[in-house]
Amino acid sequence: MSSKSYSEAHEKEVAEYLKKITHSYYNINSLPEYFDIYRISKNDPDDFWNTIAENNFEWRQKWDNVMSWDKENVDIKWFENAKLNITENCIDRHLEKLGHQNAIIWEPNDPEEETQYISYNDLHKRVNKMANVLKNHGIQKGDRVCVYLPMIPELTITVLACARIGAIHSVVFAGFSASALASRINDAECKMLVTADGGFRGGKTIDLKSIADEALKETPSIENVLVAKRTQSDINFEINRDVWLHEVLGQASEECSAEVMDAEDPLFILYTSGSTGKPKGMVHTSAGYMVYTAYTFKNIFQYRPKDVYWCTADIGWITGHSYIVYGPLLNGATTLMFEGVPSYPDFGRFWEIVEKHKVNQFYTAPTAIRALAKQSIDFVNKYDLSSLKVLGTVGEPINEEAWNWYNDNIGKKQCPIVDTWWQTETGGIMISPIPFVTPTKPTYATLPFPGIQACLMDEEGNELEGYPANGRLCIKHPWPSIARTVYGDHERYKNTYFSTYKDKYFTGDGALKDEVGYYRITGRVDDVVIVSGHNLGTAPIEDAINEHPAVAESAIVGFPHEVKGNALAGFIILKEEGETRKHDNVRKEINQLISSKIGPIAKLDRIHFVSGLPKTRSGKIMRRILRKVSSQEFDQLGDTSTLLDPEIVDEVIDKVKSALK
Ligand code: WTA
Repeated sequence: MSSKSYSEAHEKEVAEYLKKITHSYYNINSLPEYFDIYRISKNDPDDFWNTIAENNFEWRQKWDNVMSWDKENVDIKWFENAKLNITENCIDRHLEKLGHQNAIIWEPNDPEEETQYISYNDLHKRVNKMANVLKNHGIQKGDRVCVYLPMIPELTITVLACARIGAIHSVVFAGFSASALASRINDAECKMLVTADGGFRGGKTIDLKSIADEALKETPSIENVLVAKRTQSDINFEINRDVWLHEVLGQASEECSAEVMDAEDPLFILYTSGSTGKPKGMVHTSAGYMVYTAYTFKNIFQYRPKDVYWCTADIGWITGHSYIVYGPLLNGATTLMFEGVPSYPDFGRFWEIVEKHKVNQFYTAPTAIRALAKQSIDFVNKYDLSSLKVLGTVGEPINEEAWNWYNDNIGKKQCPIVDTWWQTETGGIMISPIPFVTPTKPTYATLPFPGIQACLMDEEGNELEGYPANGRLCIKHPWPSIARTVYGDHERYKNTYFSTYKDKYFTGDGALKDEVGYYRITGRVDDVVIVSGHNLGTAPIEDAINEHPAVAESAIVGFPHEVKGNALAGFIILKEEGETRKHDNVRKEINQLISSKIGPIAKLDRIHFVSGLPKTRSGKIMRRILRKVSSQEFDQLGDTSTLLDPEIVDEVIDKVKSALK
């Protein structure tokens, strides 16, 4: 179904309606206004967030208290005792005025296949049907539902259906392996898995159901598996456990009242990498997440009625949760969802879609920009990109060259670029220009969003108040969408985020501030490496490698990569020295092992076999040295005299140099 056209009178009504749902402070229109609003948000955060929350959302019941923060236990609550359902704010409240407007435009992997236009009315029905299917299979408020789906409409619909009935969704990116899926299901003790027969990604078909079947061998908490039909592949089907989604959806009712949720009831769990082998299930709650994602979406993309907004992320990551699903729908926007990849059927696919749907805001990752910038410019110039107003990037630092290419060729120097810094843990964008408000500067995320008290700290725990400055990025005061805990492990939450600096949230990122106070994120200062915009902890990769029978010990580091931002290098000690042929086999097997334990995204670009690793006298691996060597900064290794065996460094350098030849 295509979107309905509106009469002029109706358009006016729509404009009035959108104005009504966007009140005080909610629109930031100029730099002085930004500074004013920022100051208000800092001086009286409670009053500020009270105003935003009160005027722009529908509540079943208002809160008793805007925010509480028990610093000792790091117990943070927003909008205490408020009652709401986020899907009523994403869908129901828009129906009267925007019912016929597209909520979702779904663009398939293959351009020959038909686009799906899902209006707010359709979305309402489809979410309700799915919600009833979940209920009919025993899912209740508080139950965890694992969602392992490709980028098809059912993914957004399942997420919203969970939220509708108060079930907690845990989306696992469909590129993760069976064992990564199983460990996430088990950590959250999910009762149900929603998956598909398979998924299309460019020229490839991914056999999701067989990966899921492998995982399901070790997930006792799963009672039912709902299977969406996408690739029509032949799949294994366990009659007592598996259910075809299209069959049960066909019988489900289109009505499903929304569960009334407490402000602090969990909305979802999303896993992210950490410094130890086990991924962290970050828990986001209902009210604060809603308020913050809505507010940031509105301003950072300067969304206007009837715009078409497109974020190319996958809903398996936080960017998709906050800025494909929740943020846009909360604002009554039209959000485009793309199943495929930028290179299929050719490198013009993104720009073809921009032209086809007259996309106004386009949000992607630096990795994609770098990959596209390497192709012939004809892939860009073939298409009319004049609908674009705002461009965005997320997930990793953007280098100046990529920024300029994006600005010149995609934005034609007319579209502000919002370099948005944030994290799975932060729920929403924290530092970013506001288009047409904040002057942009290549590679700088610029200024914190209202309500975000960013600061830089030195390693001794002192705040660096002046600028220019270079330090570690922290946030001094809670904001509504901060993750409340690590699922099942609040101690880990406290230790990871609130123990490095007293009463401050530590981001794990390094940053600098320029002479006007603009922030530039310089990268992780912990054992997380961002590869193609994906967070990878080195510890789980080392754990996977160490399972190889020939491996004695391993250390993984990141090094700069032209397209991916960072790539991974492994330094591996074998139990027995082998000849070259054997080494090649072990290399292959190690990458297969990583693929099966984590996923293909964690594969190593370089594998060096060494006889030892640079270690301190207390036995700690000096990764800094391996990082410098891998980055070919051979003269910046610093003091190596404290090492247990300084000669190892020469061997490591030789190995890296000869691999580069
Ligand atoms: C990195 C993604 C530089 C950073 C939303 C952060 C960035 C990690 C930027 C979080 C940016 C994200 N510039 N680095 N604009 N945005 N990062 O949890 O290291 O997948 O800590 O969330 O990505 O990754 P995550």
